[in-house]
Amino acid sequence: MKLSSCALLLLLALVGAAVAAAEKERANKSAAAGGLLWATGKDENDLLTAIDSDDPSAVEDDASDEFAGGFSSLDSMLQWAIGHSDPVKLKEKASDIQKLSAEELIKRQIEIKELMEKLKMPSDAELMKIAITDLNNSSISLEDRQRALHELLILVEPIDNANELDKLGGLVAVIRELHNTKPEIRTTSAWILGKASQNNALVQNQILAYGALPRLMKMVYSASSEEAVKALYAISALIRNNDNGQQLFYSENGNIMLQDLITNSSVDIRLQKKALFLVADLADFQIENSYDSKLPFLNDRLFLKSVVDLTSSDDLELQEKALLAIRSLLRLSSSEASDFKDFCGLEYALERMREQLDKLTTQEEHGDYARDMESLRTEVHNIFHQKFEQVPT
Ligand SMILES: *[C@@H]1O[C@H](CO)[C@@H](O)[C@H](O)[C@H]1NC(C)=O
Ligand SMILES: *[C@@H]1O[C@H](CO)[C@@H](O)[C@H](O)[C@H]1NC(C)=O
Ligand SMILES: *[C@@H]1O[C@H](CO)[C@@H](O)[C@H](O)[C@H]1NC(C)=O
Ligand SMILES: *[C@@H]1O[C@H](CO)[C@@H](O)[C@H](O)[C@H]1NC(C)=O
Repeated sequence: MKLSSCALLLLLALVGAAVAAAEKERANKSAAAGGLLWATGKDENDLLTAIDSDDPSAVEDDASDEFAGGFSSLDSMLQWAIGHSDPVKLKEKASDIQKLSAEELIKRQIEIKELMEKLKMPSDAELMKIAITDLNNSSISLEDRQRALHELLILVEPIDNANELDKLGGLVAVIRELHNTKPEIRTTSAWILGKASQNNALVQNQILAYGALPRLMKMVYSASSEEAVKALYAISALIRNNDNGQQLFYSENGNIMLQDLITNSSVDIRLQKKALFLVADLADFQIENSYDSKLPFLNDRLFLKSVVDLTSSDDLELQEKALLAIRSLLRLSSSEASDFKDFCGLEYALERMREQLDKLTTQEEHGDYARDMESLRTEVHNIFHQKFEQVPT
């Protein structure tokens, strides 16, 4: 679907003007930002926040995500605008604008700015509707489908937009794409569901009610590790602090899935980190809600041992995630200190880690990280010993 022609002509003129001005005057930043302002009718700051805010305190996302999602730059935003416009008109406009003098250009920019302020630019809800209409259209190209999904990925970030998604038929459309034959499409769709449900009980419950959880759990076993990682991210976001979601997760054998991920050394390390993060999160939820011991798998010796074994990984970050999971698991009153000691060899694992960290702290590049890890390790060590001393003899 195309945007209204009036808005488009303005956009074309503005994009052309911004590009020409940048060429003539060496990247005048405020002029380029004029082009950016159009795209969502929002403040540039909001937009930038929307693009890179992956709340690290919330569900684990890939901070270092190299997968190109959303408008990562002004360029991709312009690409988006150009993709939604008529290429012939765009060319004409661009060549018209190049004939203008610098003064004429500035005058033109001011005119356009004034016009844009008078005209209401499309709201986020309208932009979401455009993307959903595209997703609903079975004849659009794969490229357009992926682009529509990337637009939604950005648009669902603000909670108000996420709350609107279902009313526009967006959840149904995105969940349908989890069954697309192309892994890239399924990957972005899972990512959207994760983003939209993050810290949002309303959207979590809507997605759970559509029955998307079992499908996402299947995707975790995908041959595409990108797909598996985004599916596990979506699952974590969907069931976080959500009792009903966690019940569903367990009834779908989520515990076995976690165990598979943690014990299988051929699994992508990013998946293992996410699995450990989820284990810690599930244990914390038990503790906070005094549900302790309702979930035997969190106290299962084999399961605990597989978590402790990951502390011997070569990857420091994986070791850290394993330590965090152990800290939460130790706090469950239903877990046995003696299992950690005798069956899992936690004492030995912590000692080995201490020696390794001791060496690392002397190295410039790892020093700070190693010191932080050491203080976490000490904390785990202390919790373990307190727990051990509490055991009635
Ligand atoms: C950049 O653009 C702004 C507004 O369009 C203008 O006031 C300013 O003089 C320009 N700066 C340069 C270096 O051209
Ligand atoms: C998309 O299709 C769904 C049904 O599959 C419908 O409920 C929704 O209104 C449609 N949305 C748009 C914007 O076309
Ligand atoms: C669906 O997409 C095709 C191909 O892009 C387009 O020709 C058609 O107009 C679209 N249909 C609707 C209802 O937007
Ligand atoms: C371990 O993971 C690999 C890669 O994901 C998979 O091919 C293999 O089937 C898994 N092995 C087991 C025993 O689950």
